[in-house]
Amino acid sequence: MITVRVPAKVNVQLGVGGLRADGFHGLANVFFAVALGDEVTASPVPAGEGVTLTCSGPDAGVVPLDDSNLAARAARLLAAHHGIADPGVHLHIAKAIPVAGGMAGGSADGAAALVACDALWQLDTPMETLLELAAELGSDVPFALLGGVALGRGRGEILEPLPVEGTFHWVFAVADGGLSTPAVFRECDRLREEAGTGSGESDVPEPDAEPALLAALADGDAVALAAALTNDLQPAALSLRPALAATLRAGTEAGALGALVSGSGPTCAFLAKDADGAAAVAEALRASGTCRTAHATYGPVPGAGVLA
Ligand code: C5P
Repeated sequence: MITVRVPAKVNVQLGVGGLRADGFHGLANVFFAVALGDEVTASPVPAGEGVTLTCSGPDAGVVPLDDSNLAARAARLLAAHHGIADPGVHLHIAKAIPVAGGMAGGSADGAAALVACDALWQLDTPMETLLELAAELGSDVPFALLGGVALGRGRGEILEPLPVEGTFHWVFAVADGGLSTPAVFRECDRLREEAGTGSGESDVPEPDAEPALLAALADGDAVALAAALTNDLQPAALSLRPALAATLRAGTEAGALGALVSGSGPTCAFLAKDADGAAAVAEALRASGTCRTAHATYGPVPGAGVLA
């Protein structure tokens, strides 16, 4: 039996370029891995019994346990890559990452399943190959393998690790219900069309990582990082879920250094000065009535790894 711990992510910068011909958007995406994470346990079952899935945790009821689940797809993809025709594994997901929350929880489980099955089946797949398989599963899956802080180019899957100093303290406000990532990207395109700027690759300048943001990460400077947080999907998430504005305001009024929607939302992320500051912001958010719950956490942390 192998258990893998895997982090959620927040995008400290999410620069969204124009809509590409393949239906994706070119990104300058600065991923940041946080300690709030899931655990995926792979248990042996006899070959030929297939890939089965269970899930526990407060949101277990809304996790799809069918073939669309990225953990199950990851197990099958890894087996196929190694020519294993009749894989057998039971995967259990202990879910702490908000579901459909903009924190790449499904992608995290896909990455964790790759690592867990690789260890269970003693395949010793090189990291480079795992990263390629991860990119086939989804744009955010490779980063969950890597962890730390990284710049994601292309649709987010071409990763460059970034230097970072020290630890940053975060709070995540979890909303009721999720948002669909494709729907938020579509709303971003619609808002760009409405504003008259256009949404195609030739209309939108190619995004790039902000030098001030990279410097703040390398210096371990939370105040500077807070000032540099940006998310091009935030107007779209707020358009689809206007109530998130009150969540962002509540965290800021509670003393957060900075606030933004996490990825495609609806989870909101708040950067705090230190661990005590994060605990206070989380408590104020829970009391504010503007979110379902709030978690204080920290990062960066490593990517998907087997627990000893
Ligand atoms: O790669 P993944 O399957 O996670 O992406 C889900 C959806 O999010 C895509 O089908 C696309 O609609 C949108 N997306 C995008 N541009 C990206 C990443 C995702 O438009 N760079």
